[in-house]
Amino acid sequence: MITNTQSGTRIDEVASGIYRISTPVKEFPGGFSFNQYLIVDAGEGVLLDPGGYHVFERVFDNTLERIHPDHITRLFLSHQDPDITASLVSWLEVKPGVEVVLSRLWERFIMHLALPAAPNLHGLPDEGEMVTLPSGASLTFVPAHFLHSPGNFHVYDQRSRTLFTGDLGASLVPEGDTEPVVTDFAAHVAAMEGFHRRYLPCNRAVTLYLERVRDLAVDRVCPQHGKVMEGDDVGRFFDWLARLDVGLDHKDWGS
Ligand SMILES: [Fe+2]
Ligand SMILES: [Fe+2]
Repeated sequence: MITNTQSGTRIDEVASGIYRISTPVKEFPGGFSFNQYLIVDAGEGVLLDPGGYHVFERVFDNTLERIHPDHITRLFLSHQDPDITASLVSWLEVKPGVEVVLSRLWERFIMHLALPAAPNLHGLPDEGEMVTLPSGASLTFVPAHFLHSPGNFHVYDQRSRTLFTGDLGASLVPEGDTEPVVTDFAAHVAAMEGFHRRYLPCNRAVTLYLERVRDLAVDRVCPQHGKVMEGDDVGRFFDWLARLDVGLDHKDWGS
C-alpha cells in the first residue's frame, strides 16, 4: 500500500506483525530504496534500521498507524551507516528513553550524531544476543561482522522465521518497481551483484556468515534496500552468495 504519493513510501505486512516501510530516494536515480522494518509482538514494537534523517517523518507516520510510539521499546541499528542511524536525532526527541541496540564497536561513534539526549544504548557483544519478546518468542541478534561493517548484526525473528539482513541482500531495482517481494530470482541477481562485489570485504566473511545462518529456519530474507526474498529464494540467495567473489577476492585493490 502506498501511504505517501509524493514520496512513494509504501508499507507492506510481509509476514504477520512484520511491516516493511519502503521509501524510494528520488535524489539518487537508479532504483535505490530504503527499507525500515517494524516488528509488532503482543503490542510491543521493535523498529529495525530506523533510517536516515530525511525519511524520519515518513517512517514515523507509518509506524504510528501500526503502533503507538509509547509501545516501541527498541530501535535496532545493524551498523553505523548514516542511512541506518541519522534519524536517531529525531527518534530521541520523540522517545528519549528508548533502548538503542547496536554493536559495542559503534557506541562511542554514535554520540557524534548530535543527539538531543543521552541515548539508552545497549551495546551488543561480538557473539550476539537473544532477547525474549512479550509473546515468548525470541529475537536473536546474529553476528554478521564485516558484511559490510566490522561491527554488524542481523536479526532473526523466531516467530515469523524472518532474517533481517541490513545491507546484505540489498538490491537496486528498476525505478518505479515498488513490489516488495522478488518473483524472478534469476533476473534479480543482476540487481544485487554490483553492490555485493564492492561493499563486502572478502569471501571469508561471507563463508563464516553462511556457516552460521544455514542452520536457521528462514522463510524470508529482508534487506534494508530493495526487495524481500521468500521461500526457495532464501536458499538460492545463500547459494548465490557462496559462489560470488566479493571485495578483495573480486579485484586486486592494491592501490
Ligand atoms: Fe551500510
Ligand atoms: Fe544501507
